[in-house]
Amino acid sequence: MESHVEKQNRDVLQKSFEEMIFTLPKVNFWGLPLDLYQYQGFWLTLPFLQGALSAQQQFQAQPTDIILCSSLRTGTTWLKSLTFTTIARTSYNDSTTPLLSKVPHDVVPYMEFDHAQFSTNRHLGSPLLATHLPYSFLPRSIIDSGCKLIYICRDPKDTFVSFYHFIAKYSKSLDTQIIQLDEAFELFYEGVSMYGSYWDHVLGYWKASLEHPDKLMFLKYEDLVENTVLYLKKIAEFIGYPFSSKEQQEGVPENIVQMCSFENLSGLEVNKIGKHRAGQGNLEVENNIFFRKGKVGDWKNYLTTEMSQRLDQRTLQKLSGSGLSL
Ligand code: A3P
Repeated sequence: MESHVEKQNRDVLQKSFEEMIFTLPKVNFWGLPLDLYQYQGFWLTLPFLQGALSAQQQFQAQPTDIILCSSLRTGTTWLKSLTFTTIARTSYNDSTTPLLSKVPHDVVPYMEFDHAQFSTNRHLGSPLLATHLPYSFLPRSIIDSGCKLIYICRDPKDTFVSFYHFIAKYSKSLDTQIIQLDEAFELFYEGVSMYGSYWDHVLGYWKASLEHPDKLMFLKYEDLVENTVLYLKKIAEFIGYPFSSKEQQEGVPENIVQMCSFENLSGLEVNKIGKHRAGQGNLEVENNIFFRKGKVGDWKNYLTTEMSQRLDQRTLQKLSGSGLSL
């Protein structure tokens, strides 16, 4: 429960954020009745920006925290399911896991939405948290605590196509129409997208992973698709929950992969009809929005050859000299 003093502090912070936010550059967000604000080089909508600022001021990381980091539509839902199931494997089985009754986003909360407002609401029972914040936005306490981070990214072409569909579906719930795909493409290309530019988001974590490989694991969605069991084992090792030889012989990693597969999760009742952040205004979405196709290369169905070549060129140019390819 938030105390009187905490509420007062929150109100004061909120006011100072509002004054600062309204001085920032702003553009309409892809035809939605929302704006994107440019803060420290990245574009964010108001609730996300307020969450980021609150987290920077107030979030207290623990050394045991494991923070799943990503931009949007790069495999966050999947990574949440896999890590949660791995960590909680001795507490739950396939018929008792909370993933049967909750969307993965309600099982692994977002730092900047669920824990940024005041420190006392932190449930320390689970070490898992997630964030969409760029690396340069992370609260100081995360870096100082030495906790583990995992970042997942994805081919920018699939990321864009997935994000466009996500926003198109979301816009229906707001009773509006998103701009056409080719217009959105130009904006994404220029970096004007949630947490854009996408490439800068990826690069921030990529560089940090080179500096602190023991603290930050860098993953690609495509690698996870290609060999999910192998990468799950690497993840488990990295976060300090390795699979024993006995577990490996019993096929525990394979079971987790099966439990968290796109086919299994997207077919669960809760993910077909449930709602995430119900009653929280513009933040409310249907759980099924998090599951679309779960395929690599779906961009081929939506981008022209010219568009795909331009995006590839952009990726080459942006990642040039970094040692990373996408
Ligand atoms: P598509 O839109 O290409 O299908 P995020 O969770 O970061 O929002 O990413 C969403 C993308 O991951 C969507 O991609 C979604 O379908 C896919 N996805 C969701 N759950 C998945 C799973 N269990 N396995 C593989 N992909 C998954």
